[in-house]
Amino acid sequence: MSQQVKSYDMYTKQHNMHQEVLSGLSQDKKTLQAKYFYDQRGSELFEQITRQPEYYLTRTELEILSQHQVAIADCIGPVHTLIEYGSGSSRKIKSLLSSLHQLEAYMPIDISKEFLIQSAHQLSQDYPTLDIKAVCGDYSTPLVLPIEDKLKKVIFFPGSTIGNFDPDEAAAFLSRSCQLLEKGDGFLIGIDTKKAASVLDEAYNDQAGVTAQFNLNILQHINESLEGTFDLTWFEHVAFYNEAHGRVEMHLRSRIDQLVTVADQTFSFKQGETIHTENSYKYSVDDFQVLARQNGFTPVTCFTDRNQYFSVHYLEKT
Ligand SMILES: C[S@@+](CC[C@H](N)C(=O)[O-])C[C@H]1O[C@@H](n2cnc3c(N)ncnc32)[C@H](O)[C@@H]1O
Repeated sequence: MSQQVKSYDMYTKQHNMHQEVLSGLSQDKKTLQAKYFYDQRGSELFEQITRQPEYYLTRTELEILSQHQVAIADCIGPVHTLIEYGSGSSRKIKSLLSSLHQLEAYMPIDISKEFLIQSAHQLSQDYPTLDIKAVCGDYSTPLVLPIEDKLKKVIFFPGSTIGNFDPDEAAAFLSRSCQLLEKGDGFLIGIDTKKAASVLDEAYNDQAGVTAQFNLNILQHINESLEGTFDLTWFEHVAFYNEAHGRVEMHLRSRIDQLVTVADQTFSFKQGETIHTENSYKYSVDDFQVLARQNGFTPVTCFTDRNQYFSVHYLEKT
């Protein structure tokens, strides 16, 4: 580990996987929280998803960030600390690290500990003077971060990962994030827009089957962490755009009637029954700006690609 990477574990002691998984599987409509996709294997599979031709999200957001990097840096102005939620491989941060003015510190925050530390270490090779504080934590809960209040901060939340929250949770999350900031601090966030269902359906059902493996990996993660007995061959990946809710849904459908044990509790599955594993809400530019305004932010600017497939919003704390 290089000298300038410090790591903070806020997750290992406080996490609630046992209770949250059992409670989700006990519902009439079984659910699992999307954050449980991400063990080391889940993070690696997500990286592979981002390179699939159907998954337009990553390449479009990278294009927007790269094409507008000067405008983004000028709009943000001098900034001391850049905080990134759900940083994963820290790939998207690079155009910002190269262009932001007077940046001294970077704080990636992710639930997937080994992957986070590995990515922070790799990043430090390219940015040897940057002070990197890698925080393993769950951003769906309040976090007390090791930051200095008075210095200007910007939060970066790419990947449209906020879409994994229901609109009420997204509102609460924005409002909690706002409390971490001072007036004049900012929030740069990537949001996937509403579009033809066929484009969305393809993006979440790649031909190579990587998204299917990623979805199934949540069961493997539960098997390893909670002594589960899921047989992955008896579940199949299902993903579709639910127009009425404006979200892509991912499910795992049981191929047969079966019993599965998790942490000594037994769950029965009917053939065709699903576990709802993820929502990815899509927002028009206007809808997202309304949500931001209602939760403590003033929209400053928004960049999109020529198809308007993806948007990157810069918001300031009001
Ligand atoms: C959809 S991926 C996006 C990764 C990367 N930011 C990108 O845009 O390609 C979501 C990332 O957020 C992390 N993550 C998901 N839920 C989380 C939570 N509740 N707290 C912290 N990190 C979380 C995952 O480990 C993963 O790295």
